[in-house]
Amino acid sequence: MSEKMLNMFTLVARRYDFMNDVLSFGIHRQWKRKLIKKANLKSGFSVLDCATGTGDIAFRFKLEGGKKVSVTGIDFNDQMLEIAKSRTNKKKLDISFHQEDVLNMTFGDNSFDVVSIAFGIRNVDDTLNCIYEMARVTQPGGKVLILEFGKPSRKILWIYKLYARFIIPLLGQIISCDRRSYSYLQSSALAYPCGNDFLSLMDSTNCFKECFFEPLSFGVAYLYVGVVK
Ligand SMILES: C[S@@+](CC[C@H](N)C(=O)[O-])C[C@H]1O[C@@H](n2cnc3c(N)ncnc32)[C@H](O)[C@@H]1O
Repeated sequence: MSEKMLNMFTLVARRYDFMNDVLSFGIHRQWKRKLIKKANLKSGFSVLDCATGTGDIAFRFKLEGGKKVSVTGIDFNDQMLEIAKSRTNKKKLDISFHQEDVLNMTFGDNSFDVVSIAFGIRNVDDTLNCIYEMARVTQPGGKVLILEFGKPSRKILWIYKLYARFIIPLLGQIISCDRRSYSYLQSSALAYPCGNDFLSLMDSTNCFKECFFEPLSFGVAYLYVGVVK
């Protein structure tokens, strides 16, 4: 795990959820709802949310699946996990959160029916290894779901670039007193492979019998789905 990444998420942990709402005008909620729908949860399913942060996706899985679905969230940052755990207690939801590195998980092969990661994969040190690990712990026929920022279509690219370059770091400074982390988070999004490029990465692992993606909000984000072989 990267020390720099660990420190950066420790800095943003306290205001993370609030900042997500402000910076995306609440649109991240729609994208997350899409991810949950794509999981097509069934009674008895076991779900893992990787790089769960403050547990937002894990909560959504639990609220959708109820008692018949078991949900686990992992992250390597204990400050993020502390917030996730205290939210679980407040909401009285039965979700287990563990500190784990997604690149080296302790779960056995084929342990889960659905394995997700939202806005986490571009922050791990090794994208391909992360996809392998997620597929390894997913049952054959199960789904790997990846939600990540992308490069928006030309129609809105210039507005997005202006927003990412000037507004996001400014809001990061005002709300979280942390201009640098928010600058990094958004500039790394534009440089990260998206759409067909990311799909090729998934394909190259040879772990999936089917892979596809859906651009969200003109490609500001992408939802990738891999059905494990
Ligand atoms: C941008 S946050 C996303 C949190 C959450 N999934 C969401 O959608 O709100 C990224 C998270 O990835 C975690 N992370 C980055 N690399 C990781 C790794 N190798 N193993 C586990 N967690 C990791 C960070 O600690 C951070 O909490």
